[in-house]
Amino acid sequence: MSSGTLAPAAVEAMFDRISPVYDSMNRLMTAGLDRRWRRLAVEAVVRPGDRVLDACCGTGDLALAAERVGGRVTGLDFSERMLDRARLKSAAVEWVRADVLAMPFEDASFDVVTVGFGIRNVEDLEAALRELARVLRPGGRLACLEITRPRGALRPFFRLWFEGLVPLAGKVLPGGSAYSYLPASVRRFPVPQDLGEAMRRSGFEEVGWRLLGGGIVCLHAARRAP
Ligand SMILES: C[S@@+](CC[C@H](N)C(=O)[O-])C[C@H]1O[C@@H](n2cnc3c(N)ncnc32)[C@H](O)[C@@H]1O
Repeated sequence: MSSGTLAPAAVEAMFDRISPVYDSMNRLMTAGLDRRWRRLAVEAVVRPGDRVLDACCGTGDLALAAERVGGRVTGLDFSERMLDRARLKSAAVEWVRADVLAMPFEDASFDVVTVGFGIRNVEDLEAALRELARVLRPGGRLACLEITRPRGALRPFFRLWFEGLVPLAGKVLPGGSAYSYLPASVRRFPVPQDLGEAMRRSGFEEVGWRLLGGGIVCLHAARRAP
């Protein structure tokens, strides 16, 4: 079974491999709800005219959602193949290939940073959060979407679907091992309370979160401390 931790080069190679099926797998795994979660994330933080960074942008759907509500958007990812897909979707977004742990932006370059289902894959969570805080202006806003583990009634269903069916579906798709890494990476990732505390330690304040999709996804919002 996967430990849920991979070296950065292995994460990059994994996303390069699954890029052709990434969007379809998202729709399938979430019954289309992922679009709504991205819309809620950008509506929570983006105002028209904001300079927005979508970090770990992948194939670009969260960046595009931010653009739709009037943001001037830069999408950043280290997987060239994921970015190839993103570039096909919009020429209005600036797509940048770089590591989120060392971004090629000046301090305080953005009003808003979004990150969707990406931070869980980064080797050093707090270093990534500090780097996101660095490129945000003081008072700027962060929205972070991540998969989490539901409590209560949905828990058995989640385990069957996420730890059984998703890896099974992954077996017949290119780069399928990614879909056993996925549940393992969620298991080892901090619960919402702990992620909120990591954000506070990394330069954010006014940290809050809400659960979406019956508790399988968590949307954190925070403000860059002055
Ligand atoms: C699960 S995808 C999420 C894509 C997109 N944000 C979305 O909402 O669908 C995670 C993305 O994070 C990127 N990623 C992971 N670690 C990264 C790092 N250290 N620097 C830049 N991108 C990274 C991967 O290449 C991948 O495209």
